[in-house]
Amino acid sequence: MSSQASLTITDLTKMKQAGEKIAMLTCYDATFAAAMDQAGVDIILIGDSLGMVVQGRNTTVPVSVEDIAYHTEAVARGAQRPFLLGDMSFGSFHSPTVAFENARTLMARGAHMVKLEGAGPYIEVVEYLASRSIPVCGHLGLTPQSVHKLGGFRVQGRSEDAAEQLKRDALALQQAGAQMLVLEAIPADLAGEVTAALDIVVIGIGAGAQCDGQVLVMHDMLGLGARLPKFVRNFMDGQPDIASAFTSYVNDVRSGAFPAEEHLY
Ligand code: KIV
Repeated sequence: MSSQASLTITDLTKMKQAGEKIAMLTCYDATFAAAMDQAGVDIILIGDSLGMVVQGRNTTVPVSVEDIAYHTEAVARGAQRPFLLGDMSFGSFHSPTVAFENARTLMARGAHMVKLEGAGPYIEVVEYLASRSIPVCGHLGLTPQSVHKLGGFRVQGRSEDAAEQLKRDALALQQAGAQMLVLEAIPADLAGEVTAALDIVVIGIGAGAQCDGQVLVMHDMLGLGARLPKFVRNFMDGQPDIASAFTSYVNDVRSGAFPAEEHLY
């Protein structure tokens, strides 16, 4: 096992400032985490997408804090260099004190930062966590935990009002102390505007090439889903093995070859 130190939020923010693209993937176990580390993945998200791709559920709603903590521990055993982002599961951050306890659990099990979906009432939660040494990543646009409220997994931010609201929410998250933001399934131009307006690192998924970095769900980019979203490329295409697919993803994110025109909204 190497003793290399993990990337820090300072390193990642410097990458944004230098215009170096950041490669992030979801991961849920030690073996894949080690392969991603070897391939040069910068950030690993232990996402609540595990409810769908690992547990076989239809949504992320039933995932628990303990599920994320268990997989975070496994990933932390396999990855040395990547920065580890642990997802706050649905219902685990509805009040500041509840959020603090759950975020503390994820950090104690190996996360370097926690991610939570939404703004509005959660701005207060982000402020509470960030001012108590819990690094926070926001998540706007398509927020999968709200799938039943949104009426499905749909592109967000298309109307002028929705786009303006998203910009206000992004600024509010940064002001509350969030140090990173994930933008999911929104028009590329809107994501570009938000990325340029914020000092914090902005990672896109289905949000175009102007974000500071990209994230995909590991199973999707390995071509394992029954029906892949428009913004996914199957990185196994033309590759002899999974390790090469991860390297190809990192290279394409770094060079700007991914995402391409066909992946944009
Ligand atoms: O849980 C997850 O995998 C996520 C990504 C889709 C960003 O939140």
